[in-house]
Amino acid sequence: MKTSKLILLFYLFLALTSQAITKSSFLIQNVPNRNIISLNGKWNYIIDPYETGYYDYRYKPYDESPNPGNGAFYLDKKQTDKTELIEYSFDKSPTLWVPGDWNSQDDKLLYYEGTIWYRRLFDYAKSSPNNRVFVHFGAANYESDVYLNGKKLGKHIGGFTPFNYEITNLLKEKGNSLVVKVDNKRKREGVPTLNTDWWNYGGLTRDVNLVEVPSTFIQDYFVQLKKGTTNEIAGFVQLNGYVLQQTVKIRIPELKISTEVKTDSTGKAIFTLNPQKIERWCPEDPKLYQVEITCEDNKVIDKIGFRTIETKGTDILLNGKSIFLRGICIHEENALRGGRAYSEQDAQMLLNSAKELNCNYVRLAHYPHNEYMIRKADEMGIMVWEENPVYWTIQWDNPETLANATQQLTDEISRDKNRACVIIWSMANETPVSDARTNFLKTLANKARLLDNTRLISAALETHGNPANPNERIVEDPFADYVDIVNFNEYVGWYDGLPDKCDNISWTIKYNKPVMISEFGAGALQGLHGDALTRWTEEYQEDVYVRTLKMLSKIPQFRGVTPWILYDFRSPKRVLPNIQDGWNRKGVIGQNGTKKKAFYVLRKFYDEMEQKYTKK
Ligand code: GCU
Repeated sequence: MKTSKLILLFYLFLALTSQAITKSSFLIQNVPNRNIISLNGKWNYIIDPYETGYYDYRYKPYDESPNPGNGAFYLDKKQTDKTELIEYSFDKSPTLWVPGDWNSQDDKLLYYEGTIWYRRLFDYAKSSPNNRVFVHFGAANYESDVYLNGKKLGKHIGGFTPFNYEITNLLKEKGNSLVVKVDNKRKREGVPTLNTDWWNYGGLTRDVNLVEVPSTFIQDYFVQLKKGTTNEIAGFVQLNGYVLQQTVKIRIPELKISTEVKTDSTGKAIFTLNPQKIERWCPEDPKLYQVEITCEDNKVIDKIGFRTIETKGTDILLNGKSIFLRGICIHEENALRGGRAYSEQDAQMLLNSAKELNCNYVRLAHYPHNEYMIRKADEMGIMVWEENPVYWTIQWDNPETLANATQQLTDEISRDKNRACVIIWSMANETPVSDARTNFLKTLANKARLLDNTRLISAALETHGNPANPNERIVEDPFADYVDIVNFNEYVGWYDGLPDKCDNISWTIKYNKPVMISEFGAGALQGLHGDALTRWTEEYQEDVYVRTLKMLSKIPQFRGVTPWILYDFRSPKRVLPNIQDGWNRKGVIGQNGTKKKAFYVLRKFYDEMEQKYTKK
């Protein structure tokens, strides 16, 4: 009997004798260390502001029609007969680099908000006939529709989280056509919503890979220290495929420990490991252990650090020791290139700059960054605040918006739950207080704790004044009762008065919790000098830093700070000619990579805080 018939019978047998996990919404864990083929490179593209390739002239989606006709770009039709009417051609269209936003690749696209169609041709021969193949996207901003060989794989919403689709049964050995419609239009009901202070970079902004796995493979796992213990490793393993009840081995060779567990009918098993001694991950010694997870046909290897993070009264304890988080905010942008950061080199550049500040911590604003940033921070010993893009005026009453925010949070935690460097999941940034907003955020916080109870929860809250006392600033927010760390943004000296206003401000913060400041800062054009009261000079920004750090140090619960921001970054809101020119100038490093005077103020403060906490 021919092999192909045998394979068909094999799949028929599998389908009949066991239940396959067919959920299309699962994520494959640890894609970088799987059997992957990169689809990065030049992709043909078609700009489609009227979505001509998606809707027919009656505004009906082609991909919901049984006979989509030649107008559907995702069919990637070729002109084969002179009589045919086809009004597009990927073959004859220009190309964009993937990964990468489109805005920074072509001046015509700098401000473009709409749809662009991408097309990548590829051949693929599976290394084993029974294997399965997925296409995995690191992210696509903001909404994407994915098609392979004319068949719809799915729609993904959210510009900063990964997604994957199984393509096993659609693949051809030659001439596969992967077509992706990416639409970066901002939406009122979106997450984030219409208004943000960052550039709306659109496109396939992160790696695209093919992932080949056995018919039953290790889809997901969680391996961390069990909450409240110092040396009990606990977690789960999730198989995906046709033979879901298997023996799975989890092994950490360097600790000379392993365990075997049997997965249940859904392919899941929980486990614990009790090593004699664990070298705990910390900034001074970011120890990562090789973890091997093996089932019948699949072995996955990861590098995982083990540490505890908790709060106790107003202290933040890393491995039981009180710490001060010496941080800085970072947008996912390579300012020198002026586009989305997406590579390991970009991650290295950004985190090296943070290290030069003597940071032990970074706030990755205002959305989940690419996986290189998290894995590089893990290796470098830099603790991380990750943030869900629930930013400013979200539609708190819209159930679809809540579902969207919940899915993005779930995918962010799913991808990075094994990274020791991630210590805080942030629910939001500067959201206006209302019952609807607080309920929305509480729902997210409950979800985060359900998915991962080993990390801390926070959010960037706002503050308010006291009409009876102009020098009092108050941190009081109903959501503060639901977070582990009280964290807020403040701009005294920039948006709120002049720098010397900091000298007289008193802070009222009635929470017996650690307090961190997730933003303060001022704008300065690198290289512009003058007196400390002249806006946009480096001296003005420097003075805000000196006076703010002194002001914040008076707060008894003060345990960390992430000034806004490491590098200048693009924003369409910042339009002052010859100063901003479409850039937010609050970086302590300029768009050209040159440090400003405030950089050195912050580093000196961090050197002092490091000394202070080392002596504790
Ligand atoms: C806000 C906001 C940032 C913004 C910054 C600024 O606090 O969180 O996204 O860029 O202030 O005004 O520069």
